[in-house]
Amino acid sequence: MEPDRSTIWPFDEAGEPRDFYYARYGHPTGAAAEARLGELEGGDALLYSSGMGAETAVLLAFAQPGSTVALAAGAYYGTSVLMRELGRWGLRLVEFDQTKEPPAADIVWVESPANPLLTEPDWDAVRAHPGLKVCDATVSTPVNLRALDHGVDVVLHSATKYLCGHHDALLGATVTRDADLTARLREVRGRTGIAAAPDAAASLLRGLDSLDERMARTAATARELARRLADHTGVENVRYPGYSGLISFDVADPRRVETRTRVIVNATSLGGVESTIESRHRWEGDRIPRGLVRLSVGLEDVDELWADLDHALA
Ligand SMILES: Cc1ncc(COP(=O)(O)O)c(C=O)c1O
Repeated sequence: MEPDRSTIWPFDEAGEPRDFYYARYGHPTGAAAEARLGELEGGDALLYSSGMGAETAVLLAFAQPGSTVALAAGAYYGTSVLMRELGRWGLRLVEFDQTKEPPAADIVWVESPANPLLTEPDWDAVRAHPGLKVCDATVSTPVNLRALDHGVDVVLHSATKYLCGHHDALLGATVTRDADLTARLREVRGRTGIAAAPDAAASLLRGLDSLDERMARTAATARELARRLADHTGVENVRYPGYSGLISFDVADPRRVETRTRVIVNATSLGGVESTIESRHRWEGDRIPRGLVRLSVGLEDVDELWADLDHALA
């Protein structure tokens, strides 16, 4: 679909704004992509300029000065960085082990599975929590998880990853089932301007066309690579949740491994058709094991990927 890149649309004959009138508040390509993602998640989707944009919108919409956010430890590092930044406005952050009950908090923020430690939330404990419940479902995607069915209030995606899937679009999304939450997020998005570009929304439409097939293939390859990695003498602690395409494992010298692959690109990010690998210590420090390597499995041939890893680990 060729995106409509207009920023304005004429008012109607009576001088009233139509559905689309100024692109910061919405545009046709964004609305079409939101409808498709919403259908997959079973809620109402909104798009933002990036995953971090979506996170910012959620925090600005629902946190107050003095609010406490309980964040899953080992969740995407940038999420904790954003929450610490908002500490200057009175946001309080506590990190907790999401495999156990969340502590008292105004907002509970889980990630399924957490990137890069690949833990899963205790869904019963999340459901029972009285606070606003947010789940970052970037790595699972709606192919593997409909977090709204677990009682979550807001599902969040870095659509930059699997949903768009080609390492060529920056995009974020939220999905909610509560009309008031959606209206508040839409209001904050329009006021702050954390809005998605039409081209990125078009990338989401393209990505959703192949999402099922990409997720099935990436999972089949990742399952096999996780099995082979677990048997490798140079590798410890292989973490793989059993679905999707993210694996993390520990090695003695992660910098050596990440710089020796030839097929797998030594780059950050995940969820694209090309496999990527990186040591996470450079970003996250001692929050994660020093030797942790994160591998995002793409659509290449499994034996070609294994030969590349085996060479890098030698
Ligand atoms: C799980 C998760 N959530 C959110 C983000 C942030 O998304 P973006 O890079 O699109 O802003 C990322 C980025 O790596 C991520 O991995």
